[in-house]
Amino acid sequence: MELLPYRDEHLALTEALELDPETMSELGGPADPDDIPRVHKMRIDTVAKGEWYFAILPEPSGPPVGAIGIWQSRIQGEPIHEVGWMVLPEFQGRGIAKEALRILIDRARADLRYGRIHAFPGVTNAPSNALCRGAGFTHVEATEVRELDVSST
Ligand SMILES: CC(C)(COP(=O)(O)OP(=O)(O)OC[C@H]1O[C@@H](n2cnc3c(N)ncnc32)[C@H](O)[C@@H]1OP(=O)(O)O)[C@@H](O)C(=O)NCCC(=O)NCCS
Repeated sequence: MELLPYRDEHLALTEALELDPETMSELGGPADPDDIPRVHKMRIDTVAKGEWYFAILPEPSGPPVGAIGIWQSRIQGEPIHEVGWMVLPEFQGRGIAKEALRILIDRARADLRYGRIHAFPGVTNAPSNALCRGAGFTHVEATEVRELDVSST
């Protein structure tokens, strides 16, 4: 498996992941197609800043089938590192996210920038919670998140 820093050629991967209702079912639903250029640029910028966002290639030089990354975020105002992952539905259930997360954590352990890393899977997101358990994440708390989308009103 290869984790390749996200770049311009991965636009099609972002479209395939973000517009897919199944992949996005636990992440607020499929993205608006008009929002894809912004998401793509955000990922390019993440890599340009030296942060980690990778395309997952199960076979080196083969097609990308998912994405995984660690980026800066905040909990109650405190800076943290958040990890997130996505695999195209037709490639799920084959251990791809598990292996990608193993590689990512190994790299993070070797990089002094990273201490604790946090994941925020929805409570009903069974594969993501299994992934966290398998990788040794500690369950800190269950919390409720509410949002209001004011962008189209
Ligand atoms: C979460 C996701 C990346 C997992 O990818 P994957 O490559 O299918 O995962 P793996 O095959 O490596 O399996 C990881 C673990 O999930 C379990 N799992 C996989 N599919 C499952 C399912 N449908 N229900 C319950 N557990 C499942 C596996 O058994 C494995 O656990 P184990 O090691 O204890 O056996 C994938 O389901 C996905 O893209 N989901 C949509 C995006 C998303 O919700 N991201 C979460 C952001 S926090």
